[in-house]
Amino acid sequence: MIDGTICLEEASEKVLSNEVKKARFFSSRSESGDNIKSQNKADARAPNDAKPADAARKDKNAQGSDNIITIRGLRKVYKLGRERVVALDHIDLDIKRGEICCILGTSGSGKTTLLNMMAGLERPTRGYVIIDGVNVTKTSERKMAKFRQEVLGFVFQSYNLLNTHTALENVALPLTFKGVPRRKREKIARKMLADVGLKGHIRHKPSQMSGGQQQRVGIARAFVARPKVVFADEPTGNLDSKTTIEIMELMTSIARKNGLTLVIVTHDTEIAAYADRIIRLLDGNIVSDLPNPNPKIAVGGGEAPEPAEADESELNKADGKDFPNETVPVTT
Ligand SMILES: Nc1ncnc2c1ncn2[C@@H]1O[C@H](COP(=O)(O)OP(=O)(O)OP(=O)(O)O)[C@@H](O)[C@H]1O
Ligand SMILES: [Mg+2]
Repeated sequence: MIDGTICLEEASEKVLSNEVKKARFFSSRSESGDNIKSQNKADARAPNDAKPADAARKDKNAQGSDNIITIRGLRKVYKLGRERVVALDHIDLDIKRGEICCILGTSGSGKTTLLNMMAGLERPTRGYVIIDGVNVTKTSERKMAKFRQEVLGFVFQSYNLLNTHTALENVALPLTFKGVPRRKREKIARKMLADVGLKGHIRHKPSQMSGGQQQRVGIARAFVARPKVVFADEPTGNLDSKTTIEIMELMTSIARKNGLTLVIVTHDTEIAAYADRIIRLLDGNIVSDLPNPNPKIAVGGGEAPEPAEADESELNKADGKDFPNETVPVTT
């Protein structure tokens, strides 16, 4: 009973298997084991800015249409027993709507921590992040889950696809959370998969696809529900150099064509070359923030790949269902 409902958390609890929950990443940071609940406890003890709420409110109201992300005084200190790790020292940053940004830094510089703060997956020790007028550092876990489903998309290094699900089901998942009826979401997901060059792989499960194909599914899933901001953490970290180029061209061309904000995190300057702006991170601080006057663009002028014509009759036969043609939302 998920069709038509907006209560995504409840709906997803009912329909999602354990594997789905595990991969949803909405409630925990699996890599570090540092989840938001334990962060909330840490917050209660953590010192805060003099008047962060006032400043955040002002920034939230003054954010205007130009900046979609505003970060002020962001700091994250992890406590490991008696040891303290300053993952982020003091970050101030504004990211414009439609900007393709790269956060570049060596291992341990704080890139993933910054991304997790931006996505509201972890609470900062100090400071705040405003995305599209919402202070994600103060929003409840439940509201944040909904906000992520509606406003954000994610591309992961290890793809984070659901192994028991087909490519089609994986891509349709964000639309499930949005309450899009089954037929419609399958139709949209199939078109999105065709757009990323996987027309012939819609019934394949992740184990039946190459790394590059899996990441194409990951990209289709990230963009399918028309997010305003897509975060990508080392999106090509598991791929060879040829596939890396394909994936970067695909991801940046979809973002450019649709005017979406894309924040890519990497240690690789070759990846950074695709961005409009390169922000270097070192020991939890921004050490440089420069425009990239000549970002690499996809062959063909940076346009998103032309949507392939889906073979409707064949798909209908396979499914026993009728799927009329429809424009993929992300490319409209
Ligand atoms: N949950 C945690 N508990 C304690 N320390 C942490 C935790 N998560 C990250 N750190 C520490 O914070 C610092 C920044 O980590 P982060 O994962 O953000 O780096 P990164 O730039 O993403 O590195 P990489 O390129 O290796 O992914 C590191 O010193 C790391 O050990
Ligand atoms: Mg990282």
